[in-house]
Amino acid sequence: MQVIIKENYDEMSKEAAQIIRDAIHLKPNLVLGLATGSTPVGTYKELIRMYEEGELDFSKVVTFNLDEYVGLPPNHDQSYHYFMHDKLFNHININPANVHVPSGIAKDFAKYCQWYEDEIKKAGGIDLQVLGIGSDGHIGFNEPGTSLASRTSLVTLTEETIRDNSRFFEKEEDVPRFAITMGVGTIMEAKCCLLLANGEKKADPVSVLVEGPITSQVTASALQMHPNAIVIVDKAAASKLKRVDYYKWAYENRPRF
Ligand code: PGA
Repeated sequence: MQVIIKENYDEMSKEAAQIIRDAIHLKPNLVLGLATGSTPVGTYKELIRMYEEGELDFSKVVTFNLDEYVGLPPNHDQSYHYFMHDKLFNHININPANVHVPSGIAKDFAKYCQWYEDEIKKAGGIDLQVLGIGSDGHIGFNEPGTSLASRTSLVTLTEETIRDNSRFFEKEEDVPRFAITMGVGTIMEAKCCLLLANGEKKADPVSVLVEGPITSQVTASALQMHPNAIVIVDKAAASKLKRVDYYKWAYENRPRF
């Protein structure tokens, strides 16, 4: 796992956008896994800037989002469909046919989840998966206790996640109780995982993700078993890590050959 510690949110976002840009330059038809939440918003802003300045072409990029609330139609302003269009897709030259966000209003969820998995496979698998981390350590909506081998499925959110996300809704009762999410096993099949975290609230889950035992109680810790995981954190989110000096030293002295 490569741990990159940045001074602040802006620096974290810029570093993440550069990694995504370089991946698209190497492979214009990159299969890019995307995340929602407040963490990646700065990265998406930076990608939009790169597109506007002619540094990036999304015309062949294929995207798969991690998750969606159950019960919210795509035009609901708190749905992740809406979020992704608002924060990224409406501002870049992505082909709408190449965009995949799980449906929160599928009729048969089991069938739909299998279809989503099949679509990822048909696209050749995810090359680069962007991830946030929940204050309870989740990736996607894989809450504590989820099997680290889980596949795309319908899940129940924790009270902590409902509370965390209630800031986007009028009242806590409006936050959906269920979601559809790529599984930990699905995420682990991405060729590269890029997890972003900022702020003090993420210091505890980040410390387990990077230095704790691998446990289904913090599903992000599965990334310790991923052959190509990059974790970019700001100083506040890194504040409970024990080996900060080494991570900084290893980053500064990373092999460039
Ligand atoms: P946040 O959410 O980016 O809004 O903190 C992260 C997550 O729940 O994965």
